[in-house]
Amino acid sequence: MISKCLFPVAGYGTRFLPATKAMPKEMLPVVNKPLVQYAVEEAVEAGLSDIGFVTGRGKRAIEDHFDISYELEKEIAGSTKVELLKDVNNLIEHNEFAFTRQVHMKGLGHAVLSGRNLMGDNPFAVVLADDLCVPDEGDIGVLAQMVKIYNQFRCSVVAIQEVPADEVHKYGVIAGEDMGNGLYRVNNMVEKPAKEDAPSNLAIIGRYILTPDIYERIEATPAGVGGEIQITDALLQQAKEGCVIAYKFRGKRFDCGSIDGFVEATNYVYENLYKKGR
Ligand code: UTP
Repeated sequence: MISKCLFPVAGYGTRFLPATKAMPKEMLPVVNKPLVQYAVEEAVEAGLSDIGFVTGRGKRAIEDHFDISYELEKEIAGSTKVELLKDVNNLIEHNEFAFTRQVHMKGLGHAVLSGRNLMGDNPFAVVLADDLCVPDEGDIGVLAQMVKIYNQFRCSVVAIQEVPADEVHKYGVIAGEDMGNGLYRVNNMVEKPAKEDAPSNLAIIGRYILTPDIYERIEATPAGVGGEIQITDALLQQAKEGCVIAYKFRGKRFDCGSIDGFVEATNYVYENLYKKGR
């Protein structure tokens, strides 16, 4: 059973400057809820209740969001506003939150390694909150879909999506044996390939389930471009020596780390979730 989920939230969010100068990118609201809350709700829906954050300097607002706000709550007590805090207060009450710091922002692989003390030697999920995933109406969330796949295969699982050829350079891209039902057994994986070097147009998005042998593989990964330690090499080793499943998920995904994706998400959520009370 997987019960743990790691949220690497230490990045600088430079694409959103100046908004992210004094505020974490993951606290940007899509309509009236911060990105990180959507992400934690998705994890909790998937049955994960041990929530760990890898934070960094200037990320205090995330810790405060998942804590009670005594003064504020006293102020609005008895008014209709209480309802607006109901969902986040439910998350706080029914789940465990823990935080650790990544001192140097050396990439996603390094962030995952920094979370080891929180996740322990258990399989765990990793969610990048700036990828907002919205399930189709009546369907389960992307992470809940992935937990089912993990339970079937018992190896690392990555979420993938088809992207246009001129966007593959932004992602980790996989190649694999098509097993049907959106599942691929990964046999190659390249981080941010040029269009002509991409093994396919199947791009990894910000949802992973990782088995704990990932740590030693990350430790053995040399830093790449910009001194960053990616997770792709470690996953490729797992794929070669064991098994990694790539899963073309159901539902919509918005790249809220980019301005265009963020605006698209805001319009979609407003029209399809907020106004419909979903
Ligand atoms: P990104 O590279 O998209 O985020 O990392 P960023 O660096 O914050 O954004 P830009 O490019 O400067 O605008 C994806 C996720 O991984 C986390 C980020 O917080 C983000 O959620 N991350 C990235 C870390 O936690 N640590 C790192 O060293 C790098």
